[in-house]
Amino acid sequence: MALRLTHTELEDAAELVAEIEHLKQQRNAVILAHNYQYGEIQDIADFVGDSLGLSQAAARTDADVIVFCGVHFMAETAAILCPDKTVLLPDLKAGCSLADTITGEQLRAWKAEHPGAVVVSYVNTTAEVKAESDYCCTSGNALRVIEAIPAEHEILFLPDMFLGSYLRQITGRPLHIWAGECHVHAGIKPEMVKAMHQAYPDADFMVHPECGCVSSYMHFLARGCVSDKNTHILSTEGMIQHARQSQASQFVVATEIGVLHRMRQANPEKEFMPISDATVCRYMKMTTLDKVHHALQTMQHPVTVPVDVAERARGAIERMIAL
Ligand code: 13P
Ligand code: SF4
Repeated sequence: MALRLTHTELEDAAELVAEIEHLKQQRNAVILAHNYQYGEIQDIADFVGDSLGLSQAAARTDADVIVFCGVHFMAETAAILCPDKTVLLPDLKAGCSLADTITGEQLRAWKAEHPGAVVVSYVNTTAEVKAESDYCCTSGNALRVIEAIPAEHEILFLPDMFLGSYLRQITGRPLHIWAGECHVHAGIKPEMVKAMHQAYPDADFMVHPECGCVSSYMHFLARGCVSDKNTHILSTEGMIQHARQSQASQFVVATEIGVLHRMRQANPEKEFMPISDATVCRYMKMTTLDKVHHALQTMQHPVTVPVDVAERARGAIERMIAL
């Protein structure tokens, strides 16, 4: 694939963007995009952010239509929070390998083994799983959610085992953790982090808590093998804020590479390096300008959640937003 667009392709892309803008006005629509989307999608969005920011943006918009440039569970969350709006997902195949690791039925069986336990579900879950949960959380507020639960309660944390073990280590709470993982983050190995530390000893390291390296990272930090001075475990939005505020001039980013787009745009004088060029979420990259245009033109593909499921799931999401 050519890295640079030809003059004609650029003109075509500009025309497409203008048409999207026109359709957006006609439909009274907003475009929300996750930090992992292609740069050109982030550039046309009304709001770009992490899962928490996107659910907040969905909850406060007064548009009639939300074009959700992200993955299916995120569009479902928007549909739960905005039952009177039309939520469109430009490609229905944009799923999530992490959300797929637990079903509502599996969660009901797990709860039956731990009666009375408080269920905390990471936002990367289906609406059915959220409906079985007491709290929802994102990487941006997971710590706050766990700390808000009184110490005497048993907690079931799902579905990400790396985020769960990170929370277990920093809170000291004996969480029961579901053994789920995301294929993109599980691919980030401690060896990669170590090699980058050696190559860039003065760089700031920003690591998503879903990373396969987080548990070992905590271990390295505790043993003094890596410096905690320049290691930061952050949500995608936390990374973007940190990139802006830090005095460092070089940054190594251990999460999906889409997040580098805004960092580079906002800080042209700083250097941002992905931990690996292969850290790409194929689901997040299914959204293209053509599909956004098609979604607005044809009102495809609406994401809906059955009313009873939405009502129960909304409780878990609203308890998270309230924190
Ligand atoms: P954030 O909550 O940090 O946006 O992460 C969402 C996600 O899907 C991570 O893979
Ligand atoms: Fe799901 Fe992983 Fe993609 Fe995030 S990066 S949307 S957790 S598959």
